[in-house]
Amino acid sequence: MVHLFSVTVLLSIHSLATALPDSRTLFRRALATPSSSIGAYNYNGCYYDSVNSRTLTGSTTTADDMTNEECVSFCSAKGFAYADCGSNLNIRTVEPDTDCNMSCGGNATEPCGAGNRLSVFYSGAPGVAVPAAPKALGGTNNWGYIGCYTDGYPRALAVGAQLPGGASSTSVETCTSYCQSNGYTLAGVEYGQECYCDNAIGAGYGPAPNGEAGCNMVCAGAPSEYCGGSFRLNTYQLGAPNPDTPVWKALGCYTDSVAKRSLSVGMQVLGGAQNMTQENCQSSCEAAGYNLAGVEYSGECYCDNSIQNGGGPAPDGNSGCNMQCNGNTLEICGGPDRLTFFQYVAPSAGSSSSASSAPSASASAQSNLGWTSLGCYTDSVNTRSLSQIGVVNGGMTVELCNSACFSSGYTLAGVEYGGECYCDNQIRNGGGPAPDGSVGCNMGCNGNK
Ligand SMILES: *[C@@H]1O[C@H](CO)[C@@H](O)[C@H](O)[C@H]1NC(C)=O
Ligand SMILES: *[C@@H]1O[C@H](CO)[C@@H](O)[C@H](O)[C@H]1NC(C)=O
Ligand SMILES: *[C@@H]1O[C@H](CO)[C@@H](O)[C@H](O)[C@H]1NC(C)=O
Repeated sequence: MVHLFSVTVLLSIHSLATALPDSRTLFRRALATPSSSIGAYNYNGCYYDSVNSRTLTGSTTTADDMTNEECVSFCSAKGFAYADCGSNLNIRTVEPDTDCNMSCGGNATEPCGAGNRLSVFYSGAPGVAVPAAPKALGGTNNWGYIGCYTDGYPRALAVGAQLPGGASSTSVETCTSYCQSNGYTLAGVEYGQECYCDNAIGAGYGPAPNGEAGCNMVCAGAPSEYCGGSFRLNTYQLGAPNPDTPVWKALGCYTDSVAKRSLSVGMQVLGGAQNMTQENCQSSCEAAGYNLAGVEYSGECYCDNSIQNGGGPAPDGNSGCNMQCNGNTLEICGGPDRLTFFQYVAPSAGSSSSASSAPSASASAQSNLGWTSLGCYTDSVNTRSLSQIGVVNGGMTVELCNSACFSSGYTLAGVEYGGECYCDNQIRNGGGPAPDGSVGCNMGCNGNK
C-alpha cells in the first residue's frame, strides 16, 4: 500500500482529543444468512410477501424486539410448520437472501425480512430449502433444460396441461411426463402451478432478457424445484443437451516439474495408476473439492484450486502431451513434465464464460467477505459515531477490524487514525457520510501501509 503519512506522525492516545472532528472509513456487514436451526426449524429462504396477498396466513404477532427465535417459538406453540406462521406457503416467490436485509429489533445480527420480504423458517425436513437451479432431468427422463422463457397471450406454449393430480401436483417431473405422454417435445412450468406443452415456441417468445431472475416461484408439487414465475416459463425440451451441466473443460497441455508441481495435490484414483483415465482423475479431484485436474505420465493425477509454481500452457503446445492413459489407450494422459489439464466449469459460469481464460495462479484473498464499504464518515472523540471498541491485536487493518466487530456480533465497523477500530449496530450521535467526501480518510492502516 501507499505510504499516506509518515510513521513519525503517530500520536499517543490522548492527543486524539485535539483532533476533532475525525473521520473514519466505515463498513457495513451483510446480515448473516441464518444457518443454524432454531429448535426444529431451519431457515427456508427470503420470500416475497405483500399486505394484500400474504405468503403465510396462519397467525401473527408483532414486537419491537422481535427475533428469529421469538417468531419461531410463537408459531411453533401454535402448531404451524412455517414461521412466520403458516402451514403451507401460498404462492411462493423466492427472492435473494440479501433482500431480507432489515435486522431484527431484538437482535441486530439476525435478518427479520424487509419491506415486502419475509424471512421464513420451516420445521419440515432440513432438505426442504430454497430450490436448486433448474437442470436436466436425470435417468430415463431425457428432458434438457433450455432456460427461463417469456410468456404472454397467446401462450408461448399453446397447450395448457390438465395434470392428473391437479394444479397442486405441478412439478418439473409431472409436467414433462404429461407433455411426453401426450406427444409433445417442449414443456414449461409457470407461476408455481401451471404446466404447458407444445412442439414449438410461439412467435415472439424466447429466453427472458433478465435470465433466470423471473423464474423464481416454487413448484406447488415440489418444494425443491422452480416452476417459472409471473409470465415466465422454466422451459424443458425432450432430448435437448443440457448446456448447464457442469463440465470438465479441456484446457490443453500444461507444464509441470517433479520439484515444483503445477497442481500440488497428488490424487489416487479407483483401481490405482493402472486404471488412470481423464475421467477417473477428474471425478476424484471433483469429489475432493478441487476444480483443477491434470493427468501426467500415463498414470498420475493431480488436483488443486489454483495453479502453483508458475505452471501454465506448455510453450511447445500439445506436443509434450503424448502418452496414453493406462486405463484407456484412446485417451492422452500428459507426458514427461506435462499435464493434460482440465478445469471444472460450474453451471452458473458455464454459459457466460465458456471462452474463459485459464485460471490465474493467484487466488484472491476473501477475508473481507460480506462487508461493504460505506465510505468516509464523520466521528468525534466525545460523541462517537460507533461507540464500541473493537480490539485488534497487532497492526490494524480493515480486515482485522471487520473481523473483530464480526466476532463480537456487530454489523458496522470503522477504522480510524491508522490504528483504531470501532464497532456498533447503529450509527450514533449524528454521525454520517463526511461532507468533504473521502478527503479526511487519508491515513494508511498501521498494519498495511
Ligand atoms: C435492502 O434491499 C433493498 C432491495 O435490494 C435495497 O433497495 C435497500 O437499499 C437495502 N437496504 C439496506 C439497508 O441495505
Ligand atoms: C443474535 O443472533 C445470532 C445469530 O442468529 C445468535 O448467534 C445470537 O445468539 C443472538 N443473540 C441473542 C442475544 O439472542
Ligand atoms: C477403473 O475405473 C472404473 C471407472 O471409474 C471403475 O468402474 C473400475 O472399477 C476401476 N477398476 C478397478 C480395478 O478398480
